[in-house]
Parts: sequence; C-alpha cells; structure tokens
Amino acid sequence: MPRKALIAANWKMYKTPAEAQTFVDAFLPLVKGHTRDEIALFPSPVLLPTVVPACEGSNVAVGAQNIHFAEEGAYTGETSIGQLRAVGGTHTLIGHSERRQYFAETDEIVNKKLHTALKHGVVPIVCIGEVLEEREAGKTASVLKTQVNGAFAGVSPEAAAPIVIAYEPVWAIGTGRTATPEIAADAHAIIRAEVTKLLGADVAAAMRILYGGSVKPDNITNLMAQEEIDGALVGGASLKPESFTAIVKY
Ligand code: 13P
Repeated sequence: MPRKALIAANWKMYKTPAEAQTFVDAFLPLVKGHTRDEIALFPSPVLLPTVVPACEGSNVAVGAQNIHFAEEGAYTGETSIGQLRAVGGTHTLIGHSERRQYFAETDEIVNKKLHTALKHGVVPIVCIGEVLEEREAGKTASVLKTQVNGAFAGVSPEAAAPIVIAYEPVWAIGTGRTATPEIAADAHAIIRAEVTKLLGADVAAAMRILYGGSVKPDNITNLMAQEEIDGALVGGASLKPESFTAIVKY
C-alpha cells in the first residue's frame, strides 16, 4: 500500500487570529477537492479557536505545535491534550527542534508526550533531526537512531499506527539550506530501518516520514520524487496561502 503524503504547515509563533482567518479564507478554496495528499495546519494555541472552526468540513486538518504530557495540572503556560481536543484539534507536533533547542525538551519528554497523544487519539508528528556539528562529525545515523529509540520507548506495534515522523535536519531549518533529496532520503531510510527493528516491518512500511527544512515551492517536487519522502513539514513557506498551495500541489 502506498503511503498517503501529508503536507503540513508549521506556523511557529506567527499570525494573529485575523491573519489566520485571512489565510484560511484564501487557502481553502485553493486546495478544495485536493485529495491526493493530506493537509494539516499547525498554528499557535491561541489561533486554534479561529482556525479549527474555519477548517471544519474541509480537507484541511488542524493541530497544535506542542502539548504537555500531563493531562492537567499546575504547568503555567502549557496546553493539555484535553484542551487541544476540546477545541477540535486532531494532530500535534512533538519534539520540534525549536522545542528541544530553546525549551530543553529531551527524548524522554518527547516519549511521554507521544504516549499522551496516542492515549487520547491525537495524531502525533514526532520531529527528529541532527544539528550541523553532528552531521559534520559523521554522527547523523547514531543521533537519529537514539532519537527514534528514545521517542518510541514503550510504544507497541499495535499502538503505533497513527504516528508520523518528521525528519528535520536542524541545519536546514529557516536557513534556506535544504537537504538534497538524496540526503533526506538517506536519513529517512535510516529512520525507517530503526522503526523496523523496534516495531516490525509492517508498521515501518506504513509509517509516514515527512521532510522539513527550507521546503519551498521550487524544491518540493524533487523532494517528493524520492520514494522515502512521504510529505513535508513546512515553516516559512507555509505562511502565505499561495506558496503553501504551490507546495501542496507540487
Ligand atoms: P522552514 O521551512 O522555515 O525551514 O522551517 C522548517 C520547520 O521547522 C518546520 O517545522
């Protein structure tokens, strides 16, 4: 069974509710009827009550950029999985490199968040990727294996079906320096081999691995031509309806 591609927009800390509404008003007609790929938007939590209802009944899913692993509690500034579900979010990013870099998220925290998302039926997109020094030191494979093992600890093959992985080499994020399709595909193959070891060949063959890092309208086609690349997680180029549409319709 071929894997259905997922093209996802990570808006990071951009847009007001009015700007988000303007985006969705323009974007939905542009991708109406597009069923070849799944499409998802990941806005900031304060935008969810605008973006979720605006996308209801469309072919565009909406999720969070982050959730806390606890179901509720005294965690100032955090968003729970129940809060996400209550406003209609169906997906969540987990362990984005900016969360790891600036908010000290470890593989152990990523693992706890993954279990929370799976328990509550929210589609998790687990982000992994090496930093430049690791790539230059020849450590990419070992870093990716460690991240996969850490993230997936205690996940059974039966529970793993909803999981999506996003491979985002940190040196390619926001730098305009995209991984070549071959570099990305090689990393995806390493990740899939590790998932095979952990969860079996069937789960690994069905799991979608997205590429993220300076994806643009002019490089998406070559990236998606790689059999190992099952979609994209797009930052900067997802902020405008026209450029994100061009990526969705590569
Ligand atoms: P850019 O597309 O801006 O490089 O961001 C990638 C990213 O971090 C998506 O999660």
